[in-house]
Amino acid sequence: MNTHTTRAFTRLKWSTPRRNVQTKAKTPRTQPSRRRAPPTRPPSSEPETVYTRHPNYKGPTMSPRLMTFLGISVLGISSYCGFLYASYTREVTKSQALTIPTDVSNRYNTSAPSFDAEVDLAEKAMRLGSKRKDLISRVHGDVLEVSCGTGRNLEYYELGERRGVDSNGRAAVLGCRSLTLVDLSPQMVQIAEEKFKSLHGGDGEVAAPVPVTFRAQDAASVTVESTSHTSHGTGIEGKKLKAYDTIVQTMGVCSMSDPVGTLRHLGSITEKENGRILLLEHGRSYYDWLNRILDNLAPAHADRHGCWWNRDIGAIVRESGLEVVEEKRWHFGTTWRFVLRPKQDGDQNS
Ligand SMILES: C[S@@+](CC[C@H](N)C(=O)[O-])C[C@H]1O[C@@H](n2cnc3c(N)ncnc32)[C@H](O)[C@@H]1O
Repeated sequence: MNTHTTRAFTRLKWSTPRRNVQTKAKTPRTQPSRRRAPPTRPPSSEPETVYTRHPNYKGPTMSPRLMTFLGISVLGISSYCGFLYASYTREVTKSQALTIPTDVSNRYNTSAPSFDAEVDLAEKAMRLGSKRKDLISRVHGDVLEVSCGTGRNLEYYELGERRGVDSNGRAAVLGCRSLTLVDLSPQMVQIAEEKFKSLHGGDGEVAAPVPVTFRAQDAASVTVESTSHTSHGTGIEGKKLKAYDTIVQTMGVCSMSDPVGTLRHLGSITEKENGRILLLEHGRSYYDWLNRILDNLAPAHADRHGCWWNRDIGAIVRESGLEVVEEKRWHFGTTWRFVLRPKQDGDQNS
């Protein structure tokens, strides 16, 4: 190997990986000229120095600082995922070992005082407040809310009727002529009633412009009855109802012992022509992987929270025989909104 070859080899070895650089001897300008002189090879006895990429070089280089940061991040994320997976498998094992009855609705009697605090954050993250508001803006006439819980929809009701435009842009009478709220758990109803008082009367006398009634009752046993004014308002005489114009239920199907039978019953007390049952529920997803997680953890969740979060809300609604006017889903398909009406008399499938 002669000295020229050795030098060329050494420069190749330590060449910068960033760009190819060619060193050229400067050509002295003899005369100032506007035109560029054609490139000329430098008269040199030495071989041209060519910086080129190292043969083992595979891509752009990374600063050591960035590499350390990324390394630590990857380590942190993988440790966290490992921790989550270990907790998940531990919870699944525990959950699958439980024997839980289908009816877990009595859990609300004890969880009532902490219910709002428990669901607040999740509801905010899922922006459920606006979905509740939108659902309740559709009510009209004599309204029944079943499984009312702690009254999380109360702030959205318009008490009193007015002319307006419905969700289809048609002129309609909106708002409540009367409002009846029931829940199986007396403890939940009590919190709802207190919430209503603070919304509509503060510490003083509650004066609602329409009859408002709270009752601890199974949704499956609600009958069409007088909207007699019990505890709130101005003593407006309730009239005998033939049917409810709107029945609302939010996040209730998951907790009921007989959701199909209860929906069927609600259909029987809803006004046939223009009556609507409005549901905002949570249940199974569009995705199998998510349903597997819901299924695996369902017994533990039901035992703790009194709700079966893996129910197929669509299947329950179809089995009830109610007519689907509108159906919409969010959050990977786990949040369901249904607008339903009673099966019409002439319907062959009823
Ligand atoms: C998950 S909480 C939902 C409460 C409320 N609707 C909301 O949106 O926050 C379910 C509620 O359904 C009630 N519930 C369960 N089965 C019921 C039934 N058969 N009739 C009436 N209420 C029922 C429970 O007592 C509980 O308050």
